[in-house]
Amino acid sequence: MTQPAFRYATQADVPALVALIERAYRGPETAGTWFSEAHLLKGPRTSISDISDLIAQPESRFLIAELEGQIAGCCLLQKTKAVDGQSGKDSDAAYFGMFAINPTINATGLGKTVLAEAEHRVRELWRAKAMVMTVINVRTELIGYYERRGYKLTGARHPFPFNETTGETTRDFDLVEMKKVLV
Ligand SMILES: CC(C)(COP(=O)(O)OP(=O)(O)OC[C@H]1O[C@@H](n2cnc3c(N)ncnc32)[C@H](O)[C@@H]1OP(=O)(O)O)[C@@H](O)C(=O)NCCC(=O)NCCS
Repeated sequence: MTQPAFRYATQADVPALVALIERAYRGPETAGTWFSEAHLLKGPRTSISDISDLIAQPESRFLIAELEGQIAGCCLLQKTKAVDGQSGKDSDAAYFGMFAINPTINATGLGKTVLAEAEHRVRELWRAKAMVMTVINVRTELIGYYERRGYKLTGARHPFPFNETTGETTRDFDLVEMKKVLV
């Protein structure tokens, strides 16, 4: 795989990011694959105002991976706190979300490269000692994907925010938390 160029998003990137996220998560191209959630959720995944607000927040970044000048992948990074497994105290951490790769190049390794770059960047940005994320509990292949990258289920569960979405096909799922200690 050609190495991507990384940069942080600006407001000018908002429409392209919304399009990429919608296409990757729930679009018809990916429906039925292990990396889609279209069988669970049909409404929009995000919006122009959501992404614009996230980019405007000081402790939040959208990391963009470009290939040949085109946005090919993205993820959201946010400063947060996580409980340190050893000390039991809160420590600086980062939240990882809105992870999307252009479906036409899925499974070419770009996702792994973006995740590794995200882990590197949050250590530099916020001295994060851990990366945390939430994943829909029934997306077991995706949980396996993160486990192969060193993430572990913490045991924490959160209700899915059905009030923030539309068109779910079932309500028989929730969010499980995963965490990786960054060294
Ligand atoms: C999930 C996603 C980010 C992965 O990125 P990607 O660039 O396609 O994936 P990569 O090339 O890094 O890795 C491909 C992996 O898929 C695995 N894979 C391929 N076919 C598979 C299948 N049928 N079932 C399960 N896993 C499969 C490969 O084994 C490989 O993992 P491994 O290297 O650990 O073996 C991307 O597909 C995506 O944008 N999905 C939609 C949005 C989404 O669900 N985001 C995550 C929300 S938490």
